[in-house]
Amino acid sequence: MSAGEKKRYALLFFVLPKKSSKELVDIKRPKHRSRTKHWVAGGIFVCFLVVVYYYRDFVISVSNRFTEYFTQTYAPNVTSPEVRHIGFLKVHKAGGSSVQNVLFRFGLKRHLSFIMPTKDYKFSTYGHVHVDLINNKNGCYDILALHSVFNKTTYSQVLPSDAVYIAIVREPLSLMISGAYYHRDVSFVSYLRRVPKENYIQNLIRYPERYDPNELSLTRNSMAMDFGFPKGFHVTDTERVQNYLSYLDKQFQFVMIMERFDESMVFLRRLLNWKFEDILYIPLNANQHKSAEELQLSNTDRKKFEERNFLDVAIYKHFKNIFLKKLSVADSEFFAEVDYFKTMRTELEEFCSSHESAKSFYHIEESRWNSPITVTHLDCDTMKMPELKFIDKIRQIEKQGRSR
Ligand SMILES: *[C@@H]1O[C@H](CO)[C@@H](O)[C@H](O)[C@H]1NC(C)=O
Ligand SMILES: *[C@@H]1O[C@H](CO)[C@@H](O)[C@H](O)[C@H]1NC(C)=O
Repeated sequence: MSAGEKKRYALLFFVLPKKSSKELVDIKRPKHRSRTKHWVAGGIFVCFLVVVYYYRDFVISVSNRFTEYFTQTYAPNVTSPEVRHIGFLKVHKAGGSSVQNVLFRFGLKRHLSFIMPTKDYKFSTYGHVHVDLINNKNGCYDILALHSVFNKTTYSQVLPSDAVYIAIVREPLSLMISGAYYHRDVSFVSYLRRVPKENYIQNLIRYPERYDPNELSLTRNSMAMDFGFPKGFHVTDTERVQNYLSYLDKQFQFVMIMERFDESMVFLRRLLNWKFEDILYIPLNANQHKSAEELQLSNTDRKKFEERNFLDVAIYKHFKNIFLKKLSVADSEFFAEVDYFKTMRTELEEFCSSHESAKSFYHIEESRWNSPITVTHLDCDTMKMPELKFIDKIRQIEKQGRSR
């Protein structure tokens, strides 16, 4: 028994049994004191101890919660409520689907209202307008977690004023490669289908005039497009770019880094004051395609890519610096939680990819970050639900909810 457990036993016996045995004796206190009655009370107390010992795990978990409640070592912070108003800018091809799934599950569990288009799967294609939405009686929604072009005015028309804005970014070259394959092979985007397949990525980088002529596109400064950068930036406009980035800093409380996804999720949990179980996820929409290394892009190709995608390069550098600063001042408790989170979600992934008959529950025991968590295969299905299917499901819920 560890010192902590001993303390908990001590606390438990100090508080509970004394009281209970007194109550037991009090219930039918005879007018005359008899030894037999004391023996009976003692016997009952011994039985109680045996029962306590038998259910010691349950007892420990109750007493844990008891101590945690009073010492507040227990995360999240019980004195401030969890954040439920969120505007998530789902940047294309940057791991946003996994975050979206987390937000969807969080909101559904709490019956929050989602911004949902009447049709389609995105909130906006241009910053200044959004698509038709399923009406909400109060005119305000709790969560936005769809693809969109960021525009503060448009966002604040539909989100409460206390909404926390978050986004995610990814290293620009891998983002572009991922997008190029995805938008060609899954979304059948026409300009990408016209690019010769052999040396596909190289063609896009080397011959933009021919294959990718627009200033902002799905394969050219695509993050900048999502972040609502206005057109007309030139590669030498360093100061103008910095000004827009500073503007974004004021709008977004936190920008996640896809390459540091688990660290990002733990930061997010702390920022939103969520529970550990709220950020559990299974990686979604991760496409198999060649990486920059496998494509053997030359240094000239890389350089040309960076010049053409200077906005995305600046965005990534900017938010990555902020993130690294945040990491450099994080305490050991943060890194301990990240390690624990990585372990738990890897186990979770294994469970969710196992056959249903193998094991019906995945159980995460209580720790200093979480109360016990039980995951079923049904939960796995929700965690693995493809984006469009999940949006259709929520759309239906929102429609039913609004028509009532
Ligand atoms: C809990 O939240 C309150 C209010 O936001 C804050 O003042 C306090 O410092 C927080 N406590 C911890 C342990 O983070
Ligand atoms: C944002 O949208 C508003 C209208 O809702 C428009 O006036 C403004 O120019 C837009 N900003 C940008 C940067 O596109």
